Amino acid sequence: MAVKRLFENVYLIDGKLATPNLKRGKRVYNEELVQVDSTEYRLWNPYRSKLAAAILNGMKNMSIKEGSDVLYVGAATGTTVSHVSDIVKGGSVFAVELAERNMRNLLELCDARDNIMPILSDARQTENYESVVGKVDVMYQDVSAKEQAAILLANSRFLKEGGIAYFIIKSQSVDISKRPKEVYEQELKLLEGAFKIEERISLEPYDSMHLFAVLRKV
Ligand SMILES: C[S@@+](CC[C@H](N)C(=O)[O-])C[C@H]1O[C@@H](n2cnc3c(N)ncnc32)[C@H](O)[C@@H]1O
Repeated sequence: MAVKRLFENVYLIDGKLATPNLKRGKRVYNEELVQVDSTEYRLWNPYRSKLAAAILNGMKNMSIKEGSDVLYVGAATGTTVSHVSDIVKGGSVFAVELAERNMRNLLELCDARDNIMPILSDARQTENYESVVGKVDVMYQDVSAKEQAAILLANSRFLKEGGIAYFIIKSQSVDISKRPKEVYEQELKLLEGAFKIEERISLEPYDSMHLFAVLRKV
């Protein structure tokens, strides 16, 4: 099998994206497990994870590394969170999720992996988790909410200066009557002065409903 390292703990195995499985033998979303020499990898599905799609589409700035502390807003059932957990290993993933039904699945994931801290909260109310989340190296936000830029700004209080925020904008959640491009520009404009845009990545052909932005806190 051909193994190519893309970033720390992120590989292409015969052309498919993968992360080394932190919990050998355990699947999270029925993904394929692949053994190469002494390492077991989990294949990372770009149709299920926008971070995987962004990496496959050439994202340059990968700030999630071994040992990173990551604030992940909009964790859902933990599909992408689980791969972030594989990457950071000894770091921590603070996973914020509003929906209780998603949190139930996320808690199962947290039982198996001790580097994920589940936080059941509305991400607009950062005071609910300020006592557990300190300063983080990286932020990742993927929420299906109306005020996406406002949520990012509220949570950026936890991000170290100069830190990277991965910001996924879902135009339909913000304003279904506007063209997606218009919504992306409107949301990014709200971040002026707080973040500098480093990359804008289209997620086609894996996803056509979102813009994936890489931002640096200024
Ligand atoms: C598209 S899903 C996230 C998928 C996930 N990032 C992944 O890749 O596996 C969006 C999530 O945002 C959550 N959400 C929406 N509004 C929120 C809010 N105000 N605070 C926290 N989570 C929220 C939803 O419950 C949903 O689980």
